[in-house]
Amino acid sequence: MLLIQAARAAAQVEYPQTTFQPVTEYGVLLNWLFMNTFWWTMSILVLVVGLTLAIAIRFRERPGDARPKAIHGHTGLELAWTILPALIVIAITIPTVKVVLQTQQKPPADALTIDVIGHQWWWEFRYPEYGVVTANQLWVPTGRPIHLSMHSADVIHSFWIPRFGGKRDVNPVPRSREGERDKRNHLQFTVKDTGSFMGQCAEFCGDSHALMMVSAMAVTPEYFKQWAAKMKPAMAQAVPVDPNATSVVQASNPINLAMPAPTGIGSPVRAEIPDSVWAAEGKKIFLGAQCIACHTIAGTSAAGVLGPSLTNFGLRPTVGAGVASSSLENVERWIHHPRSMKPGALMPGTMKGIDGGAAPTGLSDAQVHAVARYLKSLK
Ligand code: CUA
Repeated sequence: MLLIQAARAAAQVEYPQTTFQPVTEYGVLLNWLFMNTFWWTMSILVLVVGLTLAIAIRFRERPGDARPKAIHGHTGLELAWTILPALIVIAITIPTVKVVLQTQQKPPADALTIDVIGHQWWWEFRYPEYGVVTANQLWVPTGRPIHLSMHSADVIHSFWIPRFGGKRDVNPVPRSREGERDKRNHLQFTVKDTGSFMGQCAEFCGDSHALMMVSAMAVTPEYFKQWAAKMKPAMAQAVPVDPNATSVVQASNPINLAMPAPTGIGSPVRAEIPDSVWAAEGKKIFLGAQCIACHTIAGTSAAGVLGPSLTNFGLRPTVGAGVASSSLENVERWIHHPRSMKPGALMPGTMKGIDGGAAPTGLSDAQVHAVARYLKSLK
């Protein structure tokens, strides 16, 4: 028991993706089921090993012993070792089925529905109730039932935030059938503790499967409202997206390779240029480059839907769906050469041949710096 407690204490600090410290009633049920089964099977193990040892010692062969009586075909024993395991299986099945039924009910009417969409290799979250779309960071209020309605835009992924409970496959649903709820998988839970919780795609989905992280921010209902309100004004001005547009890439603006570096940028006085100037230059560059073919930034003309929404990107702690912290250096590196951080990433880099299948952006170092500062300023 002490060992388990020690392991739990250690898990809290060292293993943010532990399943032993659930923060939802769904996670508590699964943990209970696991512990229940674990301790029952442990006691059976101790009993069987103990009996085996005791019998081996007590009835070991001694000099002069007669041959023991053969018990092959003993009806009583045959019945015992058929019925006992069957009872054990039943004892495990009953609570399992109970938990399955408990966690697979229809979500309550007041549940907050969030559409979860898996992409190679990032997560999209849509909040129809708030008209908010974000990526890689799932914001949820505590105390309110959450209903995740999940599908994939490409291959099968599996959504898993261990401290929220079990994983669930995210299956491809063609865009034309996105509205059909029965084609989706569902998860529901109520988060009881605030905090930041790590998760991970749990189904092999290609090159960067292991780098398909997700984090959840569980906040108080008041804070959640503030967050949604912060996201919403920006969303409200967003240019509407044609959901039937199939190839946004082709429709994108051709990149202007001759784009001059912003005045003063790249000179030794770089550090003295105020943030707002960098951000304004970065915005101009971003909206003039093919970034907008794949990314949306609410409130601007960037309305691409192939890549993650970058609305309020400055609030996100990581870049590239969790591959690195969203420090300015990492964001620059990401824009310059995404595949150096995430093999297989579909986003093009700045130079020919280093990234993606799409044409390189051709941005200079100064332009990359400006775009990174612009993205960091979005909050
Ligand atoms: Cu997505 Cu593995």
